[in-house]
Amino acid sequence: MPSPSSFITTPFLFCFLHLHLVFAGDPFVFYDWIVSYIGASPLGVKQKVIGINGQFPGPILNATTNWNVVVNVKNDLDEPLLVTWNGVQQRKNSWQDGVSGTNCPIPAGWNWTYQFQVKDQIGSFFYFPSLNFQRAAGGFGGVIINNREVIPLPFGFPDGDTTILLSDWYTRSHKDLRKDVENGVDLGVPDGVLINGFGPYRYDDSLVPSGISYQIINVEPGKDLRCTCFHVLLVFI
Ligand SMILES: *[C@@H]1O[C@H](CO)[C@@H](O)[C@H](O)[C@H]1NC(C)=O
Ligand SMILES: *[C@@H]1O[C@H](CO)[C@@H](O)[C@H](O)[C@H]1NC(C)=O
Repeated sequence: MPSPSSFITTPFLFCFLHLHLVFAGDPFVFYDWIVSYIGASPLGVKQKVIGINGQFPGPILNATTNWNVVVNVKNDLDEPLLVTWNGVQQRKNSWQDGVSGTNCPIPAGWNWTYQFQVKDQIGSFFYFPSLNFQRAAGGFGGVIINNREVIPLPFGFPDGDTTILLSDWYTRSHKDLRKDVENGVDLGVPDGVLINGFGPYRYDDSLVPSGISYQIINVEPGKDLRCTCFHVLLVFI
């Protein structure tokens, strides 16, 4: 027969465990990325582009303020790689910033795990490979940092979400472009602008060749679609 005291302590123990589970720390989100060359023809010219897990552009990194983001990046390119999180503040954590001088490059065939906490920043950012002009070949994607529920947004909850990633694009390889940059040769204007890795709609037969795939985003009248936009500029980052 239990003593009366154990009837009193059990609910307290339960409360303690419950609080412990809820407040044990900020949530974590984990990503495993394999960065490799894949084939794509966004402007109708076959190219070797940099994909992440076979996707071009790379997957959206979708987190909420205060979350800890862990990204295990495997470099399957033939060159060293660093991934930087453009605009995401790395407070007292600059060695996770993925730029030359704060991080050692990930050698070809190796992996490295980035870990950082997103804090007090709500909005859209993007990541890209920061070395060797690789961003001209891809390896980039969107970063969304959502608000926590305790911090309301100044607009109603949307009926849907869509993302638009715009990027300047050349049909030459990043290695060719890099040689020109190193030799002081002007790259000229990009060959086109990609939208989510796709080329333009054939709005004019004389300007846009046939056979280019484009993306269609469905919009329903009367519904709110939240559109998160990213713009990856090539030359002036
Ligand atoms: C990101 O995650 C939030 C919350 O989990 C979700 O509402 C939103 O639809 C996601 N956005 C994208 C583009 O996946
Ligand atoms: C490399 O990846 C393996 C397998 O996912 C993981 O266990 C290991 O911790 C990673 N190493 C680094 C340095 O991130």
